[in-house]
Amino acid sequence: MPEFHKILRDWYKQNKRDLPWRTNNLPYYVWVSEIILQQTRVAQGTNYFIRFVNRFPDVESLAAAPENEVLKIWQGLGYYSRARNMHKAALQVVNEFHGNFPDSFIGIQKLKGIGSYTAAAIASISFGLPYASIDGNVYRVLSRIFGIATPVDSSKGKKEFNELANQLIDRNDPGTFNEAMMEFGALQCTPRNPDCNNCPFQSQCIAFNHKEISKLPVKANKTKVRHRYFNYMYIKHGKSIYLEKRAENDIWQNMYQLPLIESPDSLSLEELFSNDNFTSLFNKDNAVIGNESKEILHILSHQKLHVRFIEITLEKPAAIQSWIKVSTEELEDYPLPKPVENFLNEKNRNHPNRT
Ligand code: ADE
Repeated sequence: MPEFHKILRDWYKQNKRDLPWRTNNLPYYVWVSEIILQQTRVAQGTNYFIRFVNRFPDVESLAAAPENEVLKIWQGLGYYSRARNMHKAALQVVNEFHGNFPDSFIGIQKLKGIGSYTAAAIASISFGLPYASIDGNVYRVLSRIFGIATPVDSSKGKKEFNELANQLIDRNDPGTFNEAMMEFGALQCTPRNPDCNNCPFQSQCIAFNHKEISKLPVKANKTKVRHRYFNYMYIKHGKSIYLEKRAENDIWQNMYQLPLIESPDSLSLEELFSNDNFTSLFNKDNAVIGNESKEILHILSHQKLHVRFIEITLEKPAAIQSWIKVSTEELEDYPLPKPVENFLNEKNRNHPNRT
């Protein structure tokens, strides 16, 4: 039986996709692609990657950009702290490392937002160092081929999988090994309906031979989901609408949104309109209440957001200090959470000349 990494390498040679971050081994490219791919699948991530490196072609240009612009490019990907951390890490590279990416596994992890997974990817792909990068794909592949039922989200499981992957890694070409493992998980050993009939590991795959593919990998913690109710107000005055900046200590930190009333439970419109948070914002004589959208469920990793939009037209400008009055054209400049962006795009599609 050929060694594990040889079988994997042959499979990769035949099945590897041409992806834009595979055109070179620059640490900047590996870093940007891995952070984006922690967020989304390759199909969507590819477009974001191209947009990102077109706008910020190197670590210097990323460091020099205002944070708002970085968030704007990231808009729609979610987990905005990752984009903020990338910006801070770019500043670290420029200011603390004289513009050179650190070239050791430990050194790379000194950068903001880079943990062992991304550090191993950069260390192996850019610097040829033998560190296995283990993401969800890799846990799945190893748990199945080697029949390991230790929960992948337990510290025991993390240690066990880490040791195994580091034993298997191809010391002559660790970067290709890591990319091939991820690619194998993404294309062949998929979460549902893996292509076992065409799999080069079939004869040695313990899960396949014991008919346990669907039982592996094992996860211990089903994380608790928090439900939140977001009542957004689409407030028009003339041709302008109002935005507000989100707080520092919550999802979508420092992004902009329509003025929001969050409630712990679903509120009827009557309950919302008589709520103190609502009456303190609007003078009845000034505000005309219009349509209410259907509720949209926006799912984040540990939260389910029940989002709706209520249209309100003001006869006189609002007097709320924290609100920012913007025109449709100016909306472009503000990083917006996905559901707000979708709602505003829909509005502008229906009424391109009005906000
Ligand atoms: N998923 C995470 N990183 C990846 C990569 N470099 N290539 C393909 N899929 C990935």
